[in-house]
Amino acid sequence: MKEITHELLSSFRAPAFPGSFFLSFEGIEGAGKSTQITRLKTYLENKNFRVLILREPGGTPFGEKLRQAILETKTEITPLAEAHLFASSRSQLLSEVIMKELAVPNTIIICDRYIDSSLVYQGHARGLGVAEVLEIHNIFPLNLVPHLTFYLRIDALTSEKRQKMRNAPKDYFEAKGVEFYKKLMVGYDLMAELFPNRILKIDSEGGADEVTHKIVESIEALISNKQESLSDE
Ligand SMILES: Nc1ncnc2c1ncn2[C@@H]1O[C@H](COP(=O)(O)OP(=O)(O)O)[C@@H](O)[C@H]1O
Ligand SMILES: [Mg+2]
Repeated sequence: MKEITHELLSSFRAPAFPGSFFLSFEGIEGAGKSTQITRLKTYLENKNFRVLILREPGGTPFGEKLRQAILETKTEITPLAEAHLFASSRSQLLSEVIMKELAVPNTIIICDRYIDSSLVYQGHARGLGVAEVLEIHNIFPLNLVPHLTFYLRIDALTSEKRQKMRNAPKDYFEAKGVEFYKKLMVGYDLMAELFPNRILKIDSEGGADEVTHKIVESIEALISNKQESLSDE
């Protein structure tokens, strides 16, 4: 596997659109992504932001087709093929939606999973290598990353418990069992260390209100920092 160099890491940056923000939520199934995204949307809309929620893979007609293909496959896809499928959907989403919408002032885009899912699922858990997946993204616009990523952290067993309560049929990833979930947790922890400025790791074992409080606090900091730096110019 390849080495993750500083040079490689330094080619990833957040898109620069004044007054607009790009956010993502990460974490294993049941971590609370959907719950927190819904709450954050309401919070931000009350602050007069225009909020768009996107899901990965998907978010464009082409991406939704890929999503179906990936989630419903009955045959094994190699991690390399999988990484390229996700990157393909992502680059379409960036060009067709994310960049255009961020150009509208006062917009906040919230992605339910983004690049870290590829780094963790294909790169770490499925063994392709984190540097290998980063390299697939080392080309514009795939090298654009969120301003802030909320990594909601729960234990593999908590994930299993919450999924059982949900009673949803298992899809491709969910059918892989607790051992796979443990690998994902380790992978996400690694990403939080690799991108300490972008990824905020939040314990999501406890109450959902506490998680929301932490998210709102850091969003407020992000918004006021950005506005300060704008007024400095
Ligand atoms: N902090 C929390 N504590 C307890 N239960 C939670 C918490 N966050 C979410 N849940 C519950 O766990 C389940 C999965 O949450 P969800 O938001 O759908 O997770 P995800 O989108 O990450 O898979 C839901 O039933 C939700 O109500
Ligand atoms: Mg969800």
